[in-house]
Amino acid sequence: MSGNVGSKVAFITGATGGQGRIAVERFITEGYRVVMADLFAEPLERVRVEVLQSHPSAELLPLVVDQASEESLRDAAEKTREWAGQIDALALFAGVVQSDGLPLLEMSTEEWDRVHSVNLRGVFLACRELVPLIPHNSGGSVVTISSWWGRNAHPFYSAYCTSKAGVISLTQGLAAELADFGIRVNSVAPGNIDTAMHRAALEGEAAERGITFDEMRDIEWSKIPLKVAGPPESIVDAAYWLASDQASYVTGATIDVNGGVLMT
Ligand SMILES: NC(=O)c1ccc[n+]([C@@H]2O[C@H](COP(=O)([O-])OP(=O)(O)OC[C@H]3O[C@@H](n4cnc5c(N)ncnc54)[C@H](O)[C@@H]3O)[C@@H](O)[C@H]2O)c1
Repeated sequence: MSGNVGSKVAFITGATGGQGRIAVERFITEGYRVVMADLFAEPLERVRVEVLQSHPSAELLPLVVDQASEESLRDAAEKTREWAGQIDALALFAGVVQSDGLPLLEMSTEEWDRVHSVNLRGVFLACRELVPLIPHNSGGSVVTISSWWGRNAHPFYSAYCTSKAGVISLTQGLAAELADFGIRVNSVAPGNIDTAMHRAALEGEAAERGITFDEMRDIEWSKIPLKVAGPPESIVDAAYWLASDQASYVTGATIDVNGGVLMT
């Protein structure tokens, strides 16, 4: 074990993504030591340097981790055990979108598996390998990131929607199983959040329809009751709250943070 042994430890997947990157900064600001897990070394190093610029005493462990791989997650668990001994907050931001809108009956098995291997199977594996590092009855918790697209079906995006619906169910099931051990498990279900993932989806849809990105963005954002895609901070605020002691009586919950899209 190294570093400040008094600090809590957050393990964040998707740590270089639009939401995960903000989450790293948020947990550091709140005094956590942070394990940053994501697919590639270069963006991990960039985020590490950026965070240290604004928080020179931040304790960060960047780890190249593939959430779709049992072996990679096992290795990450071992390295985290060596670095920190335990995890207090496990925040699973890593996720992928479906490449294109596809009729379910025309979707390849490969595309279905690619999406599910990260979004649902990956969340299962991450929980199985990393939750054992959360001490019992110490206020530790798990936060998954699902989606408003896991709340109901969206035609042509069934691989993504079913993977996120599965995350909501997994969150409830695991919460029930871990309640006796004093470990809470909750989810945040984002709406359209203005990150690379959302912009890539808008670009794909614009190309399919033969319109510009701006036209596509205006069409999609006008359907949101609050008329704008959410800032990533809105999801991180909810995730941080769920991980904190302020949510000590909250478990098995999925919190919708979506600008009101489920009302339309
Ligand atoms: N942006 C949105 O509109 C939106 C809406 C609903 C739900 N979500 C969910 O929010 C979460 C965060 O998304 P974001 O908006 O930050 O997107 P993003 O694309 O900016 O970030 C996703 C991150 O996950 C990482 N990742 C992908 N596959 C991985 C793997 N196999 N192992 C480890 N890391 C992997 C990527 O490298 C990336 O850093 C995702 O689970 C996403 O499904 C996003």
